Amino acid sequence: MATTEVRISPEHVRKSSQGDVRKPDPTVVVIFGASGDLTKRKLLPALFHLEQAGLLPEEFSIVGVARRSLEDSFAADMKDGILKFGGVKDGAEHLDQFIAKVKYHSMNFDDAAGYQQLNALLDKIDQENGTQGNRLFYLATAPEYFADIIDHLGETGMAKPKKGHVRAIIEKPFGHDLESARELNDNVNKVFDENQIFRIDHYLGKETVQNVLVFRFANGIFEPVWNRNYIDHVEITAAESIGIEGRGPFYEKAGTLRDVVQNHVMELLSFVAMEPPVSFEADAVRGEKVKVWKAIKPIPIEDTVRGQYGPAKLAKEDAKGYREEDRVDPQSVTETFVAIKLEIENWRWAGVPFYIRAGKRMAERTTEVTVVFKQPPMRLFNESGGGPCDEIHPNLITMRIQPDEGISLRFGAKVPSTGMSVCPVVMDFSYAAAFGTSSANGYERLLLDAMLGDATLFAHRDGVEATWSLFTPVLEGWQESPARDFPNYPAGTWGPETANELLRRDGREWQKL
Ligand code: BG6
Repeated sequence: MATTEVRISPEHVRKSSQGDVRKPDPTVVVIFGASGDLTKRKLLPALFHLEQAGLLPEEFSIVGVARRSLEDSFAADMKDGILKFGGVKDGAEHLDQFIAKVKYHSMNFDDAAGYQQLNALLDKIDQENGTQGNRLFYLATAPEYFADIIDHLGETGMAKPKKGHVRAIIEKPFGHDLESARELNDNVNKVFDENQIFRIDHYLGKETVQNVLVFRFANGIFEPVWNRNYIDHVEITAAESIGIEGRGPFYEKAGTLRDVVQNHVMELLSFVAMEPPVSFEADAVRGEKVKVWKAIKPIPIEDTVRGQYGPAKLAKEDAKGYREEDRVDPQSVTETFVAIKLEIENWRWAGVPFYIRAGKRMAERTTEVTVVFKQPPMRLFNESGGGPCDEIHPNLITMRIQPDEGISLRFGAKVPSTGMSVCPVVMDFSYAAAFGTSSANGYERLLLDAMLGDATLFAHRDGVEATWSLFTPVLEGWQESPARDFPNYPAGTWGPETANELLRRDGREWQKL
């Protein structure tokens, strides 16, 4: 079903006690790595949507920072990005005033003098635009530059506010294993206080991800059955139909486990599995998430599946295999698909497996959580077969994160006839049908929250380290025995057969409504 992209609007934003919309303080947003795709495709469109919704302060500036000399073209390029990726029409109200606030500064990230000049530029912007010394640094560079940038911000004194507040958003990947994540956290915490840091995972900005908490904790009827007494198992799928989109060098180092499982999938899992927090404040929510991750049992390597896509003839195009992609090693053993069985050892979930899978070039783009309930204790119906549906299907709740955002409940219903035969039927909630809208891409909400100083939807140091603690041994195990069967699934399919085997050996199968 087609969905409409919705812009975040004042109604979506938490209101102050007076009932008026909370706007961030005057701020300069400084984006390191601004020549990369993220700035043009996501960040600038998101900031402009906030501007259109009246959610940015009057006194506001954006400074792009990167190595190349783009002084003459940067602002125009950002305008193109907003038009192309932000669904904005040329001539849109406020667009030119907004673009006039976009500046550029070129420097090498290890060049101390460059930071002095940047500092001077920011002071000048404060004087001219009234931004009052408030800064939001956004680290959107390749991760190898994070440490340099953080050190220099510390050395020049830019990390500590002379007046106002200084905050820093750090993009994923936050480290590439436990040790590097710890090292990065140590670096960050030498320069910034933890409350200045916003480790971003754009999944947490998605309406449908936040709605998992609303579904569970704003309704009386689901939470009582949300546990090992009623639930058989949980499946989380983050499937993408696209390949690596020209990001060969990045993907070769990352692979699916680092790129989406350690972060996006685990964030989603924590919302599905956590205990109700005492409030929706940052510490309360993040504390409950960490408890879930820490309760996950060490993952035996036999409970993991790796895959890599091979070439295929698809309906619309011939798809390359991963090893034929640009700037990818023709013998690469990097995984483009992962399936893992996780067990959360706590009172709520002991004995309920969580099967997660994520991959590129899969049959369709779909991110969803499916909760599979236990069957009734005795079989009253369809005993003798012969009806249109001879099996009794378990109840399912499927939360569709994207696309076609919504939630479905599957249950058995009597087929109209003189017999007592039962077939599965589905009750469906669709964001598009209910609200006329679906969800924004996550960056609007998160940029706004960071400017407001609200860290609820950002990762905490403990959380990042907890998820890396789980997956680092898996990565090490994989490295010790590189996959020999790659490529093991054709592009455009649901991954390797071993991913089905992972469930089959437990007497289960991946569900499809
Ligand atoms: C990014 C990954 O973090 O998330 C990409 O680096 C992936 O590889 C993307 O495609 C998926 O995000 P979304 O919002 O399209 O599901």
